[in-house]
Amino acid sequence: MRFHILTLFPEMVDGCLGASILGRAAKDGRISFHTVNIRDYAQDRHKKVDDYTYGGGAGMLMQAQPVYDAWRAVQETERFGSGCPENGPKRRKRLRTIYVTPQGETFTQETARALAQEEALIFLCGHYEGIDERVLEETVTDYISIGDYVLTGGELPAMVMIDAIARLVPGVLHNDRSAEMESFQNGLLEYPQYSRPPVWHGKAVPEVLLSGHHKKIEEWRLEQSVARTRERRPDLYRDYRNKMPE
Ligand code: ADE
Repeated sequence: MRFHILTLFPEMVDGCLGASILGRAAKDGRISFHTVNIRDYAQDRHKKVDDYTYGGGAGMLMQAQPVYDAWRAVQETERFGSGCPENGPKRRKRLRTIYVTPQGETFTQETARALAQEEALIFLCGHYEGIDERVLEETVTDYISIGDYVLTGGELPAMVMIDAIARLVPGVLHNDRSAEMESFQNGLLEYPQYSRPPVWHGKAVPEVLLSGHHKKIEEWRLEQSVARTRERRPDLYRDYRNKMPE
């Protein structure tokens, strides 16, 4: 899967996505990251990409032209198959373009699962007071937020979403089963987990986990998931109960 990130701060994105599990998956060719510096598309000789907002108000707005040209360049690379090492058939359809904004729908595990089905995605990261509405109308397919709070820019939310999506791409987690078993996958939080030693600070690992009895272990884990969800996330627990057959 190919991730294109349109940003004014490519160094923020490259440092983060090149490390750890995602960095390794990119080296293995399971996913790829293509950062585009929107400033490279500024036509002004000072490489200016922002200006005052019409109608007044505090702060500057990212202008339409550099954002549009950066976005067009990515669409062209994807369409004609240059610049992306693992590009397949040429003349692809327009890519889904996600504008990360507190004004979007809230990102959930379900959103991550749906987006993980795409071959490629574009993330548009805003800064300052946002981006000229006209270019958003022409490029954006999805407005997505990571929660009801405001950050200084779109890079961190984009990386949160990319991490959640990329780990669902087959082969990115070496143990794909761990993506199947974890929190939210069945609408419940994950059960508690333990490793060695069997007793630590006087606390013993629950007996059943040492029993080798797989069916009992599964039953115990489900019980724990349900109890934990009821206690910590009553909203999820309610949905879980409502979905259960009578
Ligand atoms: N940009 C600034 N705040 C944001 C948020 N909460 N979610 C997505 N993008 C943002």
